[in-house]
Amino acid sequence: MMALLRTAQLDAGALAEVRRLLDAAFRGERFGDDDWRHALGGVHALVRNDSRLVAHGALVPRSFLHAGRPLRVGYVEAVAVHPAERRRGLGSAVMAELEDVVRREYDAGALSATEDGAALYRARGWLRWQGTAWALTPAGRIRTAEDDDAVFVLPAVAELDVTGELTCDWRTGDLW
Ligand SMILES: CC(C)(COP(=O)(O)OP(=O)(O)OC[C@H]1O[C@@H](n2cnc3c(N)ncnc32)[C@H](O)[C@@H]1OP(=O)(O)O)[C@@H](O)C(=O)NCCC(=O)NCCS
Repeated sequence: MMALLRTAQLDAGALAEVRRLLDAAFRGERFGDDDWRHALGGVHALVRNDSRLVAHGALVPRSFLHAGRPLRVGYVEAVAVHPAERRRGLGSAVMAELEDVVRREYDAGALSATEDGAALYRARGWLRWQGTAWALTPAGRIRTAEDDDAVFVLPAVAELDVTGELTCDWRTGDLW
């Protein structure tokens, strides 16, 4: 069963259950506290099998710069499917739900993909950023070249030149 809920609608028990799923799903890559904070403050797509949480993805609002303009971005975070439930379409179902919100509420979608994730996003029509990735920081705009290959976008309202520059806003932890 799929549910789409705002962070404020999840009680402490439900949030702890999401965190446990993320810790189990990311294992080797480690899902840290900053990663967790990045997943809060927007909407969560949650899939339950009976009452057990088996898949999750979050969409949070961010403000990017592209082609000299601000871009209202729905940023995908913390997409995870329980290891025993993969390749059954659950990741895809979570993304379909979040993509629908991107199309209704934002100028564009964006995310930074792991290797597993990249296969899923490519299969769903997300475009890999072919230009350069940047970030706004308290010390000014910096180049984040190590993230170039991981960034994907989903055009919605805005026209995007995927060979151009994309600048994300500031936050602690991973900027992308
Ligand atoms: C990435 C992840 C969420 C995918 O979830 P999933 O439920 O297995 O994905 P789906 O079954 O919906 O896959 C849909 C399509 O995406 C592609 N795909 C998904 N995972 C893939 C993989 N590991 N390798 C190759 N293609 C993959 C395939 O085209 C797949 O369709 P198919 O199974 O008919 O070939 C899951 O592997 C996961 O939780 N990984 C660990 C956490 C993580 O890296 N999250 C992504 C953060 S960016």
